[in-house]
Amino acid sequence: MSMSRMICVILSSPSRKGSTSTLAVAAAEAVEGAEVRIHFLNGLKFRDCQGCHLCKQGKPCPLKDDLVPVLDDLRNCDALIVAAPVYFGRATGLYYMYEDRTFKLYTEQKEPPARNALVIVSSGAPVEHGKPTAERIKRILERRNFSTSVLLHSTREHGLPKDNPEMLEKAREMGRTLFP
Ligand SMILES: Cc1cc2nc3c(=O)[nH]c(=O)nc-3n(C[C@H](O)[C@H](O)[C@H](O)COP(=O)(O)O)c2cc1C
Repeated sequence: MSMSRMICVILSSPSRKGSTSTLAVAAAEAVEGAEVRIHFLNGLKFRDCQGCHLCKQGKPCPLKDDLVPVLDDLRNCDALIVAAPVYFGRATGLYYMYEDRTFKLYTEQKEPPARNALVIVSSGAPVEHGKPTAERIKRILERRNFSTSVLLHSTREHGLPKDNPEMLEKAREMGRTLFP
């Protein structure tokens, strides 16, 4: 596989070594020869979308912060992995801060290229609990032409991924399907 394939990984848990981060990194690293760009949102300084709508008028986003290179990778990646824990029945606030800032991508490119994405959601409660969070992220990504598959993980049902070789293998398998 050529090195030109780039996987953008968005880690939206505050835990760099937590369940969703572990599974997302395993999935990305299973793709042979791909360039993996990991964005740990909790380590970045960035602001909320200010709702100025300049991007809708084709103008640059006035926010020049740590999220700019993340949005560039999101724009240019060949595949995407989003890792999202469930907090109070939805994704983290950090995730939503990031997602709102992707508004520019939805307005600048009317027909984005077809790409694959993997959404990894982890909950404390059984996996059913993570489904609405995963389905919502999937819906948003599909509007940008990402064919999106979902991996659901539950600490109650599966324990921690680092101690669960089957779960890690499942993540790797799903990572490999990003480039069929
Ligand atoms: C503030 C907070 C809220 C949470 N809310 C829920 C919840 O509503 N439902 C649930 O199943 N788990 C909930 N959890 C548990 C996490 O979803 C679970 O521990 C998950 O595996 C964390 O993933 P991570 O290690 O990638 O951060 C919550 C955890 C925190 C810290």
